[in-house]
Amino acid sequence: MDQLLITGGQPLNGSIHIAGAKNATLPELCAALLTAQPVTLENVPALQDVRTMLKLIASMGVHVQDDVASSNALTLHAGGLDKTEAHYDLVKTMRASILVLGPLLARFGKARVSLPGGCAIGSRPVDQHIKGLEAMGAVIEVAHGYIEASLPVGQTRLTGAHITTDMVTVTGTENLMMAAALADGVTVLDNAAQEPEITDLAEMLIKMGARIEGHGTSRIRIEGVASLNGCSHAVVADRIETGTFLCAVAVAGGDVHLHNARAGHLDAVIDKLREAGVSVESTETGLHVKSAGASSLKAQSFRTTEYPGFPTDMQAQFMALNVVAPGSSTVVETIFENRYMHVQEMQRLGARITVEGKTAVIDGGATLSGAHVMATDLRASASLVIAALVADGETTVERVYHLDRGYDRMEVKLQSLGAHIQRVSAKPN
Ligand code: UD1
Repeated sequence: MDQLLITGGQPLNGSIHIAGAKNATLPELCAALLTAQPVTLENVPALQDVRTMLKLIASMGVHVQDDVASSNALTLHAGGLDKTEAHYDLVKTMRASILVLGPLLARFGKARVSLPGGCAIGSRPVDQHIKGLEAMGAVIEVAHGYIEASLPVGQTRLTGAHITTDMVTVTGTENLMMAAALADGVTVLDNAAQEPEITDLAEMLIKMGARIEGHGTSRIRIEGVASLNGCSHAVVADRIETGTFLCAVAVAGGDVHLHNARAGHLDAVIDKLREAGVSVESTETGLHVKSAGASSLKAQSFRTTEYPGFPTDMQAQFMALNVVAPGSSTVVETIFENRYMHVQEMQRLGARITVEGKTAVIDGGATLSGAHVMATDLRASASLVIAALVADGETTVERVYHLDRGYDRMEVKLQSLGAHIQRVSAKPN
């Protein structure tokens, strides 16, 4: 298992390219299941989660031409798909595998998908995905750890329906939107998620011939079509990778250009960064960030909410800023019940944080000292890397595979900006 060794204290300067969004790529790979024609995706990030999803759809008989390593592009051809099952072995490693459910059911009238199990950051049920598909006429049984979905005898297509989810769910909205694209009649999704990744997926589906309106709002209207065609689509930039590097520069200090980053998708985070004393400016090619370093900043309180609010996927990274910036702050996590796993590890670096339920209170301005810490989930790992950039001495971050799920060579990008960070293969015990 790889480790990252980070020696804090270097400012970050230069320019990096922000990759395509993980959370747009994953549903867009599944959208390719909706058509028998080839689909080309560009600006695909080289991430472990993307490789897992490719493995999953290849196991169903999808032909994958994978040029991600050389050109961040790939072509998928689901014309020969002959297996509508997502096996436990792959689903257990990545919950987003549930995104194959809607497309498989819509195009083939059946799907067998392993029920995603528990997760480090919360229980994360998929009841809303199931409820929505049932409203569209699917017959769903959960047995032996699998969601077994089919259509009533004699029926070949899902039927449009008016669906209001009990809470705002990102992958739930995506699954139902993809299913509705091939259903008979009109589907209205109320209380829909509004994340930019949903808008990007809708734009891709529209290129495939889908009739979708209202994406980016809480009501999405989808008029089903008989079939969808192939398309070529470039994945939107990753707003969470963008926010992560903005926080890194904020605490380490420096002057960095983030090519391809889009301010409009990250307003809630950028507003807080500006209030904290960081300069963030939009340019023609991306975002420019400048900071005089942690001691020049002021900690900011925030609460996570659905888009366009402060993203839960940025909570840990911004908390790293609050730990070192002078001032006290309060963070409230409203989306996931167990998303403070990074706190104990940050405390090992010297952070002063107390957690009670959904609320973390941070006594900022701490001087951190390097230590061994363990990554527990994707964004928690990123927050530890950020904290290590300003810790005194060397920090070792273990279990870097969490980071690799969602960041395309984070340490290479940080190295290019001047950080003292290297990846080493840990010796087996
Ligand atoms: C997506 C993102 C993830 C992000 C999260 C919240 C992807 C691949 N992942 O995850 O990075 O952290 O949105 O922005 O896009 N819920 C239910 N029942 C359901 C569905 C959700 O109770 O059927 C609950 C969840 O437990 C959670 C909340 O609703 O508390 C939001 O979850 P959801 O938006 O579905 O998260 P994901 O789509 O899994």
